[in-house]
Amino acid sequence: MGGEISQGKSVRSKEDSSIIYTSDPKFHDIQKNWNLYLKKIVQASEPTDEEYIKNQFKISTIPEQLATELLESLEKSTKLEFFTEDCDIRYVACRGKANTPAAQNIHFSYFSLSPKQLDLISTICEEMRPCLEACLGTPFRVFNVRAIETRSKSEGVGPNKLHKDGVFPAEIHKVLLYLTSAGLEIGTTGLTIKRHKKGTAYVEGPPGTFVFFNPVKTQHKGIPPKKIGSVKITVEIILCPSYETDISPFVAGTNSLFPIDP
Ligand SMILES: [Fe+2]
Repeated sequence: MGGEISQGKSVRSKEDSSIIYTSDPKFHDIQKNWNLYLKKIVQASEPTDEEYIKNQFKISTIPEQLATELLESLEKSTKLEFFTEDCDIRYVACRGKANTPAAQNIHFSYFSLSPKQLDLISTICEEMRPCLEACLGTPFRVFNVRAIETRSKSEGVGPNKLHKDGVFPAEIHKVLLYLTSAGLEIGTTGLTIKRHKKGTAYVEGPPGTFVFFNPVKTQHKGIPPKKIGSVKITVEIILCPSYETDISPFVAGTNSLFPIDP
């Protein structure tokens, strides 16, 4: 297991003006720096997972009981409202039309994660570890975790529009873990299959199903639950190839992207 579990505090206040946003002129250099850093690690990678090599995404599962335990715990948790300044001081924050508090808070909520819940997420990352290492062909480092509730009626809004996460450095990867199961009725994610121009794969499976992919290179969109009033609950784990595996889950804020310094 990785080191100590840490939870980033929302060190920012709503009045803070020293945040580095993706719209900042410095952002270009930060991204360049990350790309150079990750390129060296990826050059030596040896992916072995055939499904991932073929499709550029991997769908797998963790034990359902772990997902259910986390879901039941989250259902008792405080929900957080998204706000633009909610970003750890060491991280870059997102600034975009789709990312305004008004657009976010109507359709999405974030969960406040307790140390006990982070401990459980750490156990979940440990379960996923062999699969993720086989896909990447390198060790990896987790640097941001968010637990998200997506409401019905949010089709095509923000992350539910077909897109690539162009704000991330090119080798950043994402895990989406479905705690409420995954499917077109209950809510899921659609991923464009590279080899078929118009082909889309939809993640389907019981609670504990997850998809691992590169959100910078693979087009994707969130699919909200169809039934009015129902919700999809997912855990988003952001990670990157690394020299050593570190799966300590870190919460950097509802509007955080990745560390300024690799
Ligand atoms: Fe995305």
